[in-house]
Amino acid sequence: MSAQKLAPSILSADFAQLAAEVDRVTPVADLLHVDVMDGHFVPNLTIGPPVVKSLRGRTDLPLDCHLMVTNPEDLLADFAAAGADGCTVHVELGDPRPRFDEMRKLGLRVGLTHNPATPFAAVEPYLDEIDLLLFMSVNPGFGGQAFIPEVLDKLREARRVVDERGLDVELEIDGGINVETAPEAAAAGADILVAGSAVFHADDPVTAARQIREAAWPNGS
Ligand code: DX5
Ligand code: ZN
Repeated sequence: MSAQKLAPSILSADFAQLAAEVDRVTPVADLLHVDVMDGHFVPNLTIGPPVVKSLRGRTDLPLDCHLMVTNPEDLLADFAAAGADGCTVHVELGDPRPRFDEMRKLGLRVGLTHNPATPFAAVEPYLDEIDLLLFMSVNPGFGGQAFIPEVLDKLREARRVVDERGLDVELEIDGGINVETAPEAAAAGADILVAGSAVFHADDPVTAARQIREAAWPNGS
């Protein structure tokens, strides 16, 4: 049984009116996904702790910060101080344990993620140590890319392992989620669906978010 949460990704919001965009999706959001990109780990450059701090003052939604940066360890304290609820780091950077330790120390929820081409075996050893495992279903860096369906095999495997072992780890999927792909991601066992362009680029983001949720979990929340 999945947790059935929707996380609009503010990457696709209009940053010039971010507060209004957040207010608009709040009734249909369980958390806000915040994409942090450094122009180095990924080519794009987005936002950091000051924006998280401003959001914290504006919303009670949990702020789920996805760190696509080369040096997350240098930024975790700033994100915690800004009011992030959790941070998610990439396994591609190398041993994530020192970053987990730092996150725990700071009271952050511990998230780990992996790119579409990175095998589940690369993150499986850490399942006991994390609160959230994020599956990238596009290559990180930009919103609006096409969903990579091969990622669903990894997600199904993770769902099986997490359930068999009774682990308290949420499974989140990020990239190319819309009304067509959300049902597949939900069926594969995702607890949290991240959706950026499918929500914020829609004429009516609230309706779009509701439709994604309804497509994913027809009998759910
Ligand atoms: C991509 C980001 C995603 C992005 C998803 O690197 O991690 O969170 O916002 O955007 P969509 O839903 O448009 O694929
Ligand atoms: Zn993301």
